[in-house]
This record gives sequence, C-alpha cells and structure tokens, in this order.
Amino acid sequence: MTTLDIPELALVALVGVSGSGKSTFARRHFTPTQVLSSDTFRGLVADDENDQAASGDAFDALHHVAGIRLRRGLLTVVDATNLQPHARAGLVRVAREHDVLPVAIVLDVPEALAWERTQARADRTHGRPVLARMQRDLRQSYARLAREGFRKVHVLRGVEEIDAAQVRYEK
Ligand code: GTP
Ligand code: MG
Repeated sequence: MTTLDIPELALVALVGVSGSGKSTFARRHFTPTQVLSSDTFRGLVADDENDQAASGDAFDALHHVAGIRLRRGLLTVVDATNLQPHARAGLVRVAREHDVLPVAIVLDVPEALAWERTQARADRTHGRPVLARMQRDLRQSYARLAREGFRKVHVLRGVEEIDAAQVRYEK
C-alpha cells in the first residue's frame, strides 16, 4: 500500500494524461465538492465539457473557486491533466496566495492502457498523437514538479499502485 500524506488543508493537483484515471481516483478518495474538475468548469462556462476553446475561461473560474475554498480553509483537489508548466503555475500561485501547500499526485499508467480506455469512452474523441504528446509532457513534468513549488510530489506508477494508494491527512 502506498500512503499519500497530504496536509489537512492543501491544494492537491492531480497530474496525468487523459485516461490515466484522475477522475476515478478523485471520486474514490475525495468528496464531490472537494474536487474541481476542468470538465465541469468547461461545462459551466460553455455548456460543453469538451470545448477546449473555453479552457481559458474555465480555468479562470476554477482558480477563482479554488481560491475561495482555500480562503475558507477547505481542502481542494484539481482534477485536470495539469501536464503543462503554465497550468501548474496557476495552481501554485492560488495556493501561495492563500498560504496553503500545493501537493501533486501523479498518476502514471502505460500509454497503451490510457489509449485503450480512451477508445472505450464516448466522451473522449482525441487521437493517439494527442495522447502521445500528453505522455511526453508527463515525462517532462517529473523533473520540474518539485522546482515549481509543489511541497510534495506523490507518484503512483501503474494500475496496482494507483489501486492500493490511501490518502492520510497530516495535522
Ligand atoms: P481525462 O478526464 O480524460 O483526463 O481522464 P481521467 O484521467 O480522468 O480518467 P478517468 O478517471 O475518467 O478514467 C478513464 C477510464 O478508465 C474510465 O472509463 C474509467 O472507468 C477507467 N478507469 C480509471 N481508473 C481505473 C481503474 O483503476 N481500473 C479500471 N478497471 N478502470 C479504470
Ligand atoms: Mg477526468
């Protein structure tokens, strides 16, 4: 079992390619209102969870709500790929503005598995090259995460490790 130590008040960034299991992991370990998902916010601002053109507005709204939650002392989990340095920088900034520790949980599954899952989903239409780019972004993220200001970087490799992980809150 892998124990993920997380401060009771933290901004948790899930990091992983599409199909790595971020939303599934979030549902399993956190309550629905603790989780801010980029899909949900795209839906709220564009009536379409897949409207990538709405991402800017969706993340503005997501960051705003995250900031309010942190100000109110509530643990907040961001369910988005968080594969790009600029996306993570926005989260680190919100956390710092509220004196809250940013924590990353990386879900790293084999690309072939993520692709298999993607093909089985009606709500995902991106092609294999898009997934391959995400996988490259993930590889590049490893060296950067700690430097970007994440207080802890938990890495779960493979389905078994992801399945066996447990969250433990630090006082
Ligand atoms: P995006 O939202 O596209 O970035 O993907 P995601 O990382 O949120 O993946 P999600 O949790 O939606 O999982 C993708 C698919 O894989 C879903 O159909 C899940 O049911 C399946 N899946 C995720 N985690 C597991 C797992 O641990 N075991 C099995 N069997 N299926 C899983
Ligand atoms: Mg998801």
